[in-house]
Amino acid sequence: MILVTGGAGFIGANFVLDWLRDGDEPVVNADKLTYAGNAETLAPLSSDERHVFVREDICDRAAMDALFSTYKPRAVVHFAAESHVDRSIHGPGEFVQTNVVGTFTLLEAARAYWGTLSGAERDAFRFLHVSTDEVFGSLGPADAAFSEVTAYAPNSPYSASKAASDHFVRAYHHTYGLPTLTTNCSNNYGPYQFPEKLIPLTLINALAGKRLPVYGDGSNVRDWLYVGDHCAAIRTVLARGTPGETYNIGGWNEKKNIEVVRTLCALLDELRPAAGGARYESQIEFVKDRPGHDQRYAIDATKIERELGWRPAETFETGLRKTVQWYLDHAAWVQGVTSGSYRHWIEKHYAPQS
Ligand code: NAD
Ligand code: DAU
Repeated sequence: MILVTGGAGFIGANFVLDWLRDGDEPVVNADKLTYAGNAETLAPLSSDERHVFVREDICDRAAMDALFSTYKPRAVVHFAAESHVDRSIHGPGEFVQTNVVGTFTLLEAARAYWGTLSGAERDAFRFLHVSTDEVFGSLGPADAAFSEVTAYAPNSPYSASKAASDHFVRAYHHTYGLPTLTTNCSNNYGPYQFPEKLIPLTLINALAGKRLPVYGDGSNVRDWLYVGDHCAAIRTVLARGTPGETYNIGGWNEKKNIEVVRTLCALLDELRPAAGGARYESQIEFVKDRPGHDQRYAIDATKIERELGWRPAETFETGLRKTVQWYLDHAAWVQGVTSGSYRHWIEKHYAPQS
């Protein structure tokens, strides 16, 4: 079986659902269920014996040791993290705790367990660390895309904490020989994304008749990848990646934020026209910029294509259309995640400037 951490979050849950759709190897899914974790997303697996959900904190060493000794996973796929840049600006402490201390704790538990293995089991063990392109910092308009040898230059507390975790993973391979793999991926979008992130926030606000907040002048560029493609890339790296290596994953889809928001509005105009023929675009509002806002991310994903044969299946157009339709079809899921603490965050973060 494999051990997945953070499998009740956006990408982790998509990964677990896809994994069990495509194969029969069981998953033990360890998630603390923070505000971003959602057991509802995993409801289709509630009576599936191949899925074991455990509510645990990756910072809890005893709990992590118990998971390894009970389930004896052949691999770890580590998603658990605090993932939202804006939250890391409001409160970086939790990011250091989960992303740095948590990853370190999990590495220690994995190393101890791996040390008990021998022969083929020891050789086959993998620790796959899911990371981000944000560790590379910000690109200018003419700069080459991030490759695996781009120097780290994280700019936000979030990316600094992810960079630190990447360094620990690297060190555990280099020093102890732990068979690690690291993936650095660009911006994901798709089903089950928590609506604090740009695409689901825009969709949900648009349908509710609220303003669509675009930071600064909307010219910042992100490289968008459909979540199912990210999950396929992770499966590929887990199956065929070389221990100690890092792999960049991206969608070859660089878009300005304002272009993304306008495209979403146009899709909604088509799929769920607003009453009275109003255009969703009229709800766009340029708001105060994110402090330290990285201007441009772009991933050069040639290594994973050349060495492992992975390429995204979705284009931005097909992936975005699927995503908009998914949010339209899953009003109950949206309703479930946009209550309580979500409302509190939105009120605090988007409060009118005095
Ligand atoms: P998410 O915020 O949606 O989910 C994170 C999950 O981790 C949640 O289920 C949460 O409950 C869990 N978690 C948080 N702290 C925990 C702890 N201490 N112990 C156990 N579980 C804990 O995040 P996501 O967008 O699904 O991202 C998953 C991973 O992928 C992260 O490591 C993130 O850095 C990375 N990543 C995300 C993107 C993106 O665009 N979303 C892109 C590249 C890489
Ligand atoms: O690049 C990978 C990263 O992508 C992941 O590591 C992070 O976990 C993930 O959250 C994401 O980070 P971003 O900061 O790029 O994503 P976010 O959706 O928060 O913002 C995308 C862009 O949209 C960014 O330039 C900021 C802008 N934005 C965001 C929000 C929430 C707005 O203009 N308005 C908003 O309300």
